[in-house]
Amino acid sequence: MTENTHEKSTTLVLGGTGKTGRRVVERLTARGLPVRVGSRSGEPPFDWEDQATWAAALRGVGSVYLVYYPDLAFPGAADSVRSFVSRAVGSGVRRLVLLSGRGEEEAQVSERTVRESGAEWTILRASWFCQNFSEDYLLEPVMGGEIAFPAGDVAEPFVDAEDIADVAVAALTEDGHAGELYELTGPRLLTFADAAAEISKATGREIGYLPVSPGEYAAGLVEHGVPAGYATQLAGLFTDVLDGRNAHLTDGVRRALGREPGDFTDYAREAAATGVWGG
Ligand SMILES: NC(=O)c1ccc[n+]([C@@H]2O[C@H](COP(=O)([O-])OP(=O)(O)OC[C@H]3O[C@@H](n4cnc5c(N)ncnc54)[C@H](OP(=O)(O)O)[C@@H]3O)[C@@H](O)[C@H]2O)c1
Repeated sequence: MTENTHEKSTTLVLGGTGKTGRRVVERLTARGLPVRVGSRSGEPPFDWEDQATWAAALRGVGSVYLVYYPDLAFPGAADSVRSFVSRAVGSGVRRLVLLSGRGEEEAQVSERTVRESGAEWTILRASWFCQNFSEDYLLEPVMGGEIAFPAGDVAEPFVDAEDIADVAVAALTEDGHAGELYELTGPRLLTFADAAAEISKATGREIGYLPVSPGEYAAGLVEHGVPAGYATQLAGLFTDVLDGRNAHLTDGVRRALGREPGDFTDYAREAAATGVWGG
């Protein structure tokens, strides 16, 4: 793929402090490309809940890494994305790279919005991120030694956020990715018990996996202060995407980058070495 040297205008990275966005920002910055973090802590701030913040965040922007928060499958997401995409294209954005989720029917409404936007588009439809265990809601359970989660014994091809960021940067900066839907998975199917065993091996600590029902999971979140409505939506989303529909591998990383995706074992070893899981 050739680098697109015409794209020197600013890239807005929504979710630019999060698991994938932070890595996209690092890569673009390392290449000396103009980049703006689009999040509530960005400068200027960008807030999905406050459309008055969008115009300043979009000023001078030619391309966007479009990450919705909390999830494209949540109520209101499709309307917000539609409004944002319309504003973005109206203000001169010519390239959109959307982070979407595998097996989420609701997310496909926003995928359609991006496809029909008139801008060049690339869709990254990702499986479960490895980094959920080290940078998100599964960190605390790992630290506590037991991952209680409503995933039964389903197998998931966990994908490394480093690979997602590499694909996003390729799509943002190179020619040849416009009009592509990349379904991004890791190279191997693992159950949540397998993932816990991998983390045990990497940390030298015993981390267990306890399958729970969606109701038990939601109740546990509420005990930890998560609002009941949000907890129910989250448990429902996990129930949907972890029902086996995504238990197969895809070649999205190879198609986009010409190399194989990173394996969970390497992710776990590298995450353990950062000290994120203690020790
Ligand atoms: N986790 C998975 O396994 C998985 C799998 C497939 C797809 N996805 C998709 O990935 C997306 C999340 O991406 P991520 O995991 O890279 O991010 P993340 O780690 O969840 O980080 C969230 C980001 O969003 C920002 N943010 C939070 N509330 C916001 C608001 N109201 N307005 C604007 N920005 C806000 C945060 O920054 P501030 O705090 O500074 O605002 C942060 O940069 C979701 O759309 C999800 O559907 C996730």
